[in-house]
Amino acid sequence: VVVYITRRIRFAASHYLKSPNLTEEENNACYGVCTNVHGHNYNLFVTLKGKADPKTGLLLHLTELDDIIETNLTSKVDHQSLNDVEELKDIIPSLENLIVRFWDLLNSKLPAGLLDEIKLEETENNSVIYRGETA
Ligand code: NI
Repeated sequence: VVVYITRRIRFAASHYLKSPNLTEEENNACYGVCTNVHGHNYNLFVTLKGKADPKTGLLLHLTELDDIIETNLTSKVDHQSLNDVEELKDIIPSLENLIVRFWDLLNSKLPAGLLDEIKLEETENNSVIYRGETA
């Protein structure tokens, strides 16, 4: 029986949106006030897919999942300026770009095929979902 289990992780971070490929006028037109440094309280939802271990009834111990998320993601971004984080320096820290990079940081540390979906909420009105690239 395949089940999906979701863990929510919260972190706070600041960022600003500016593209090196746009002029200052174009950046202002594109991103508006988001070109200024500001912060968000992010919610990250990490969903695993699989069959529970018949011995434990679990897909993966949530403490183990928490450790992987903390070590490879939260410890790097919580209370940081996302524009300055080493793992994010080459991207504009929009929701669309962050979610793909977060997927790569987590998926490479989890058992193959276990990560099904991640969702990143920036505000109660804005969120993005990523399920990895399908071959
Ligand atoms: Ni923002």
